[in-house]
Amino acid sequence: MAGDLRRAAFNHEAITEFLGDTAHDALLRDQLIPALRTLAVLDAPTPLSTTLGLFMLGVEVPEGELAAAFPATGIAGLHGLGLIEPAESGELWRARVDLRTHASDADEEIWVASDLGAHQRAGVLRHDHVLGIGQASLTLAQTTVRPQVRYALDLGTGCGIQAFHLLSHADRVVATDISARALGFTRFNLLLNHQALAIDPHDLQARVDLRLGSLLDPVRGEEFDLIVSNPPFVITPRFAGEQDADRFTYRDGGMPGDTLVSTLVSSLPSILAPGGSAQMLANWEITEAVDEEQSRDWTAGPRSWLSADTEAWFIQREMVSPTEYAETWLRDASQGRDPLAFAEQYGAYLDDFASRNVGAIGFGMVWLRRPAEGKNGMGVNFEAIGYPIEQPIGSYLTRDISVADELAARDVRDLHLVVAEDVTEERHQRPGAEHPGVILLRQGAGLRRTEILDTALTGFVSACDGDLSVSSLVIALNSLIGEGDPEFSSRLHEGVVRLIKHGFLLEMRNNR
Ligand SMILES: C[S@@+](CC[C@H](N)C(=O)[O-])C[C@H]1O[C@@H](n2cnc3c(N)ncnc32)[C@H](O)[C@@H]1O
Repeated sequence: MAGDLRRAAFNHEAITEFLGDTAHDALLRDQLIPALRTLAVLDAPTPLSTTLGLFMLGVEVPEGELAAAFPATGIAGLHGLGLIEPAESGELWRARVDLRTHASDADEEIWVASDLGAHQRAGVLRHDHVLGIGQASLTLAQTTVRPQVRYALDLGTGCGIQAFHLLSHADRVVATDISARALGFTRFNLLLNHQALAIDPHDLQARVDLRLGSLLDPVRGEEFDLIVSNPPFVITPRFAGEQDADRFTYRDGGMPGDTLVSTLVSSLPSILAPGGSAQMLANWEITEAVDEEQSRDWTAGPRSWLSADTEAWFIQREMVSPTEYAETWLRDASQGRDPLAFAEQYGAYLDDFASRNVGAIGFGMVWLRRPAEGKNGMGVNFEAIGYPIEQPIGSYLTRDISVADELAARDVRDLHLVVAEDVTEERHQRPGAEHPGVILLRQGAGLRRTEILDTALTGFVSACDGDLSVSSLVIALNSLIGEGDPEFSSRLHEGVVRLIKHGFLLEMRNNR
């Protein structure tokens, strides 16, 4: 089948060229009409148009056309693999799965099969729906810090997307899921892409271990160097007499509120090797503030889940109201199609959040580490970053973590610093004012942080040309502008450490 797909040029470049940018972009937004219109005006089908129509656009294909597009696999082969089924009308065949291309970490692209989405198949999704590569899958893949490791885990693998990325930098990967159907898709995808993923199709086990089971059950007692998980984190109202079949397995772990996420955050460190880290996507409930004077503290819940020695970094990317949350997840599973059921479910979400006094729901990235010698400088960090960041962001997170580890082992006062290339300074002042009211530094790359500077830090940064050490600059500034302020040096020092940790200031390594 891989040979057929390759012969059909079922790859990103050929598909984009065939459809044109506009129709291709629409397809990425799950809008099929522009691509279907391109297909409709073709003089004759090609293996590429047939494959695209069948597996991505929900087109029913005549036997002859299908046989021509898959000469090696044949119709019997596709049917035997469970990829197609006869359509209701006449001699036509339709897809049972979605199949699309994805950039691998090697030169070659991979093909990833998953269940058909709501835009490709009529009706509400099946409850054991195996998710394709969605925005959340890509976000986690792009956020993952990727050191070369011995043993990695993808918990809740779905179609296997995170595991495929792990294979590029882990000797062995364990991929778990509570759904046998998901593991079936992962296995199919591994075999289909064995060349690009550098695995032996006759001995998958040598590099990949697929295990059925819930949360930590299939891996208890083991220690991983790296864990990634895009878990079923969606907060869903529970109801009496609920069965497994009532839940969408891909998004709902069957626990109340954010308990599935809190369980993972508190238990994942127990299966990390010393120095090993875990990264996951998560939702967390944010309790309503006690009175209007106070603002909601989004960090309170996540903070309470951390075991004493775990290092953590939570980046909150979004915060939404209970109503926005309910609408998003009702839409996601096409539950909006039956107005009565929609109203009932919407109300259930609101009652559920109200029962725990939830005022908002946070979404973001979680990084956890079991400390080890030389890998313990991060501590516990919470950042809210709601604006667009550079993607892939993983290498920037790697940098921040290694800088924090280095700083923990060195004396900052001895460093000679320069300002990072991507940093610019902004000064804002009221018209006619003599001095700027606000001075800030902006980072152009990575997390694109902004730092508001006081006078001391402004002076410090402008003098960072690598010539003087941090301690010399602090002493000089203290004598110039810090006289009479006993806190001056320590406050400045604290600001400098933050600017180094966040990548605004770098050590001038080569010259010293
Ligand atoms: C949001 S999907 C993520 C799929 C894939 N890893 C990705 O990044 O796109 C969550 C996956 O977790 C699985 N899952 C649900 N409950 C689970 C549990 N209790 N233990 C392990 N996996 C679970 C689902 O079957 C689903 O495949």
